[in-house]
Amino acid sequence: MGASPLVLGIETSCDETSAAVLRGTSELLGHRILTQDVHEVYGGVVPELASRAHLRVIDDVVDSALAEAGKALGELDAVGATAGPGLIGALLVGLTWAKAVAYALGKPLVAVHHMEAHLFAASIDEPAAQPPFVALLVSGGHTMLLWVPEWGRYELLGETRDDAAGEAFDKVAKILGLGYPGGPVIQRIAPEGDPKAYHFPRPMLTRDQRPGDPDYYDFSFSGLKTSVLNRVRHLEAEGRLAGEVPNLAASFQAAVVGVLVAKTMRAVEETGCRRVLIGGGVAASRPLRTAMAEALGADGQLYYPAPRLATDNGAMIARAALFHLERGAPDDLAHLDVSARPDMPFPGLVRRC
Ligand code: KG4
Ligand code: ZN
Repeated sequence: MGASPLVLGIETSCDETSAAVLRGTSELLGHRILTQDVHEVYGGVVPELASRAHLRVIDDVVDSALAEAGKALGELDAVGATAGPGLIGALLVGLTWAKAVAYALGKPLVAVHHMEAHLFAASIDEPAAQPPFVALLVSGGHTMLLWVPEWGRYELLGETRDDAAGEAFDKVAKILGLGYPGGPVIQRIAPEGDPKAYHFPRPMLTRDQRPGDPDYYDFSFSGLKTSVLNRVRHLEAEGRLAGEVPNLAASFQAAVVGVLVAKTMRAVEETGCRRVLIGGGVAASRPLRTAMAEALGADGQLYYPAPRLATDNGAMIARAALFHLERGAPDDLAHLDVSARPDMPFPGLVRRC
C-alpha cells in the first residue's frame, strides 16, 4: 500500500445510497449521494422501501463514483461500509456489496460505525478539524454530546432520552404539513416567522442544573414536539393555523438550537476546551452553526462539515475506514464474519460515570 491509500466508502444505513472514492484523508476523487424520494409521501422512511431502493441503485452509485474518480475497483486499497447503526435491511445492502468486493479483490473490509463517521466528516475539507474537541452529533437517529481527546477515544457526556434532534425536526415538519425531511424545510420557512412568537419549552435545560446532575448534559425533544402539536391543535380549532406556520417553525427551531448550544457550551466550560465540532444531518442547520459560533466567541473554534458532508454520505465512511485501516485493519479474509448490526456499539466510546 502506498503512502495515501485509496479507499471506497459505502453508506446505506437509511435513505441515502452513497459511495465515495477517497485518496488519503482529504482527496475526494469521486462522490455520489442518491437520496431516495419514495419516502416523501409517507412523511418518514419506510424501511422495506429503503432496502429495495438501495438494492436497485447500489451498483450504479458505486460505478458512478469510481468513474468520477477515474479509478477501477482493482486499484482500491480497502473498502469501508457502514455496518451500523441503521435499518437492518438497508445496512445489509451496502455491507454485503462491500464484503463481496473486498473478498473478490483480496483487500481489507472496514466495518464502519455510522456516528463515528459523522465525527470525521468536517475533517475532509478542513484538516484542522482534529481533536481535542467537544463534539455535538445531531442526526435523525442520534443526539450525542462527546468529549473527544483524540480520534478513537470518545467520552459520552450526554445523549437524548427520547427523540433525536433531527427526528424532532422531521416530526414537527410533519405536524406543520411541511413534508420530509423536516430540517431543511423548517430552516427555509423560519425566516418568514418570528422566533419569539411562541415560547416553546427548552427541555432539560434549567439554570439550577450542576455538573454531575443526571440531566446536565442529556437532551429530550419529545415534550417539545408535543408542545408544538398542542399549539397546532389550538390554532387549528381557531382557524388560524395557516398564517402561523412560519412563526411556529421559527419558534420551534429557536428552541432546539437554544438547547443544543447551551448544552454544548456547558461542556466547553467544563473541559476548558473552546474547540467544538458538530456533525450529523442537523449540523447542516445554518441557524445552529451561527448560534454556536456566536456562543463560542472570537477565541473559540467551530468546525462543521459542508452541508453535503453533514447529511449521510460515503465520503465520511471512507474517511472513518481509513482511520481504522491505519490503526490496524484486518489483514486476512476474516472480514467475511462482519455482519450488519442495527445496534452496533460505538467503538472507543466510554460513558462517563
Ligand atoms: O445524518 P443524517 O443525514 O441521517 C441520519 O443519520 O439520521 O441526518 C438526517 C437528519 C434529518 O432528521 C433532517 O431533518 C436533519 O438531519 N437535517 C436538518 C437540516 N438538514 C438536515 N435539521 C435541521 N436543519 C437542517 N438544515
Ligand atoms: Zn447520519
